[in-house]
Amino acid sequence: MSASSVFAGLKPQAPDALLSLIGLYRRDPRPEKIDLGVGVFRDDVGATPVLASVKAAERLLLEGQATKAYLGPEGDIGYLDLLKPIIFGDRIDHEMFAVQTPGGTGAIRLACELLKAARPDLRMFIGVPTWPNHTQILDQLGIETVAFGHYDQRAQRLAFDEMMAALETAQAGDAVLLHGCCHNPSGADYSLAQWAAIAELVARKGLTPLIDLAYQGLGLGLEPDAAGMRLVLAAAEDGLLAYSCDKNFGLYRERVGALYTLTRDAETLDITASNIRALARTNWSMPPDHGAATVRVILESEALTALWRDELEAMRARVAGLRQALAKASPALAPLAGQHGLFALLPLSPAQVAALRERHGVYMAGSGRINLAGLTPDTIDVFARAFEACLQGEPA
Ligand SMILES: Cc1ncc(COP(=O)(O)O)c(C=O)c1O
Repeated sequence: MSASSVFAGLKPQAPDALLSLIGLYRRDPRPEKIDLGVGVFRDDVGATPVLASVKAAERLLLEGQATKAYLGPEGDIGYLDLLKPIIFGDRIDHEMFAVQTPGGTGAIRLACELLKAARPDLRMFIGVPTWPNHTQILDQLGIETVAFGHYDQRAQRLAFDEMMAALETAQAGDAVLLHGCCHNPSGADYSLAQWAAIAELVARKGLTPLIDLAYQGLGLGLEPDAAGMRLVLAAAEDGLLAYSCDKNFGLYRERVGALYTLTRDAETLDITASNIRALARTNWSMPPDHGAATVRVILESEALTALWRDELEAMRARVAGLRQALAKASPALAPLAGQHGLFALLPLSPAQVAALRERHGVYMAGSGRINLAGLTPDTIDVFARAFEACLQGEPA
């Protein structure tokens, strides 16, 4: 590296581990290899098809779109308004400001930037393990994080008492990041009673919840997946909801997200909204159009909405069915039946994860996270046997 280069001071960054795994998988010549790495839905034949509701909406857009002029910093207002009842139901009486964002990631980034601007010494409580991008975004913004145990990977269960004890140490003005449903990577969600206890604590302590809702409809269904987090938002003075349509509409590469900001009075909301617009302007200026417009066209049409709901339910049912089948295939996989969404965090050491890959051609994240949707009816038993062999004798 040339010492005079402006870039000479940069430190190398680790490549994204999951992207490296894709490369390894592609190069593996074994036909029986199984990919449980990347976090997208797959159907029974291993495909991630475009939904029929999305195709139909795209045809309408192609024919009807009259301009490509900028959308404005808030994005597609119809999209944001039509999603609102799906996300919040009729329980939330806060003042609310919404912006369209590039994916759920853009919404989380914007939410964290807003919190940092509002309160530079803010601490973010965050359950670990979590989606790695959460901690990366918070670290990059210099937000102090307070990590608490969310999941006991060995025992395969939620560490709820540990979590509540940690949150009891939080102080007014701290924030807490919660996965709305289908926890990534653990699949371990809170019961409604547990959500109610979190809501009581958040209100009593004066904490600001940042809810990451990236998989609504892929756990128990659209309504039950949102019911718990609504209790928390309803109880809090302020709140932030980062949403992604990339999974539940299968729109991944279109980058379809939204940030909803909740507060109690109109004046606070006005100032907050002006800050959100300013932050969005310096990040991406205006959001992309196509994905959000596609969601809007679906939600504007009763028939397309019904079709989308059926397609989402089929995806949800496939994943739930895989959980039951895995639990049946091996007692060691039984905890998966009580969890939700695409992911599970198996009690495997990095050496066992490597052994599964090298000896059995089973690819998963180094943490032991699997994407269940990578399995098909033909590979469930193959996977269960390989997993058991690893647990029973292969290197720990
Ligand atoms: C927990 C969680 N939140 C947010 C996202 C962001 O999704 P996207 O930016 O693709 O919409 C993901 C994506 O994998 C996720 O797993």
